[in-house]
Amino acid sequence: TVYPVILCGGSGTRLWPLSRKSYPKQFASLVGDTTLFQASAQRLAGNRAGLEFAAPLILTNSDFRFIVTEQLAEVGIDPGAILIEPEGRNTAPAILAAAQHLHAQDPNAIMLVAPSDHVVPDADAFSGAIATGLKSVNGGDMVTFGITPERPETGYGYLELPEKPDGSACKLMRFVEKPDADTAEKMVQSGRYLWNAGIFLFSVKTILEAFETHAPDLVNPVAQAVNAAEIDLGFIRLDPEAWAQASDISIDYAVMEKAQNLSVVPFSAGWSDLGGWDAVWREADLSVSGVATSGAATAIECKDTLLRSENSTLEIVGIGLENVIAVAMNDAVLVADMTKAQDVKKAVSALKQKQ
Ligand code: GDD
Ligand code: MG
Repeated sequence: TVYPVILCGGSGTRLWPLSRKSYPKQFASLVGDTTLFQASAQRLAGNRAGLEFAAPLILTNSDFRFIVTEQLAEVGIDPGAILIEPEGRNTAPAILAAAQHLHAQDPNAIMLVAPSDHVVPDADAFSGAIATGLKSVNGGDMVTFGITPERPETGYGYLELPEKPDGSACKLMRFVEKPDADTAEKMVQSGRYLWNAGIFLFSVKTILEAFETHAPDLVNPVAQAVNAAEIDLGFIRLDPEAWAQASDISIDYAVMEKAQNLSVVPFSAGWSDLGGWDAVWREADLSVSGVATSGAATAIECKDTLLRSENSTLEIVGIGLENVIAVAMNDAVLVADMTKAQDVKKAVSALKQKQ
């Protein structure tokens, strides 16, 4: 049995105006009919490709707790437990809390940590990759999943392989989180690096040992927050005072960059973290001319364009556009050049300053 641990706490500013602090992208239907969070939970439910998944453990914050239960109920998935973080402390404390919680339940548990805001279209292929990773987990390794890099992206972690990847699972030489642009460029050129998908597989025992070794300062505050947790309407609310003592750090910096016992399973069946509107456009059902419309949107003689209205009474029409993103919400409209999709986060900071 594999215990899915779904991280549901982040807020993606690059998908503004759809993704908001109060309603981040994982809860929206960006690709397909279900939301990204629902699709993540469905991918890791029941029996698939010879794997058996336990009910998922969800980590989120107080604001999203009812969105989480509602969205799970809609797709008929019962959560194993929902842990509420009093405030966002990034992924390392969240994953440690999950490991401690699962340890109390089953000290031999194997956990699969997954983000809630990614697209992985082929769930069976993904289960197959997890099954492959289980072999390394049993040998005491922490398993990462590697994506063939398409560009020198600086927002990802990079996995260094001993040789050019041939598609088979192997030991990792090194994990490098978010390199600078020059380093990323060299890594992609060398052909020996894969992107870190941000999905991890390990035994509870191995990850707890890794925290003891590489991030010992986190262990006590998080353990106290888990032990003093309050049950509130079925949610497990971590103790705020103890939680406040845990530092804000991601699993990538706290553990993965330091650990030696890492393996990688290459994954080539499709993956996107939808890190911008250009990525949403690429994952959409495109017309021959590369146009994607959604909601009350009409494109006339457009090319390589995304038009999206989230309000059924707000019609958006594009004529003769090329390489344009337009997204209409009730209270805001984004119109941008496709090649500037990453600058949407600048817009969000600019708007914050205006407030
Ligand atoms: N519960 C909870 N609490 N979830 C969180 C928190 C938190 O405090 N912070 C982030 N998350 C969730 C996000 O919602 C997302 O689903 C996942 O954890 C990863 O966090 P991001 O903030 O999106 O990380 P990143 O994109 O910068 O980098 C990670 O993912 C990349 C691939 O998308 C790293 O693992 C990189 O190495 C990796 O390449
Ligand atoms: Mg991310």
